[in-house]
Amino acid sequence: MTFRARHLLGIEHLAPEEIRSVLDLADRYVDLNRRTVKQSDALAGMTQINMFFENSTRTQASFELAGKRLGADVMNMAVAQSSVKKGETLIDTALTLNAMHPDLLVVRHPNSGAVNLLASKVNCAVLNAGDGKHEHPTQALLDALTIRREKGRIQRLTVAICGDIAHSRVARSNLILLGKMENRIRLIGPPTLMPSGVAEFGAEVYDDMREGLKGADVVMMLRLQKERMDGGFIPSEREYYHRYGLDAEKLAHARPDAIVMHPGPMNRGVEIDGEIADDINRSVIQEQVEMGVAVRMACMDLLARNLRAERGAKAAETYV
Ligand code: CP
Repeated sequence: MTFRARHLLGIEHLAPEEIRSVLDLADRYVDLNRRTVKQSDALAGMTQINMFFENSTRTQASFELAGKRLGADVMNMAVAQSSVKKGETLIDTALTLNAMHPDLLVVRHPNSGAVNLLASKVNCAVLNAGDGKHEHPTQALLDALTIRREKGRIQRLTVAICGDIAHSRVARSNLILLGKMENRIRLIGPPTLMPSGVAEFGAEVYDDMREGLKGADVVMMLRLQKERMDGGFIPSEREYYHRYGLDAEKLAHARPDAIVMHPGPMNRGVEIDGEIADDINRSVIQEQVEMGVAVRMACMDLLARNLRAERGAKAAETYV
């Protein structure tokens, strides 16, 4: 296993071989998670704190399950009932929790860069569970695992990422990961939802869904991220669905064996037709959720190994 990282803050810090190490270990955790007894001792004796400053269903639940299945003591900080509501800053909150000696801190925050800042202030390993429009690394890793298991590889595929690219940390992390693994990436959406500077990632940009989907192996749909929008970006949801919502007619332009993905939460009838989302022959949305637990177990296991090695080295220095 090659995985040198101290924290998991973004895909941009990972080398292709580190990404492969996460996916290989996650494959093993998929097998464990399908057993009746899903227990490992990879994090035995360790403490994991989950701090979610933004709503979450999939990411928070899967990080909690992942930690528990690996034998960690897991604490979910209830941000809504915490002293954050009395004005305590993110850094003071993190320093307070750091004084309780956690080993792993899982953080979601609405501000881009907040998790990186926090990682510079604490002694434990920090995992980014999504920061603003910046990155959502475990989402991109679970998407990569889903694609690799479905397509048998994670290279040389044509992947269409469709919808609100501008406000999406999922799109950004996927763009970086899929680029590192040498895939052809197409971004499809209205010009108002396309960030500037996408060309630097080597992606092709389309505003016509049918054109962009031609020959795609993977169709990744995104929600309109209204919580990060400042003003109106589309004429109406009805018009948006007509032009950019994935339905059977538009999907027919992709390869016949193309898979349909969505990170969730979905807005049926806005970016995706409900029947496509539920079509077990095309949609891998539930598989993505399953892979999420395994990928988060793999990430925390690998970070814990590095943390133990670092602490072992420091202890040896002290002894000398
Ligand atoms: N995909 C994702 O991040 O979902 P949640 O917001 O429910 O965690």
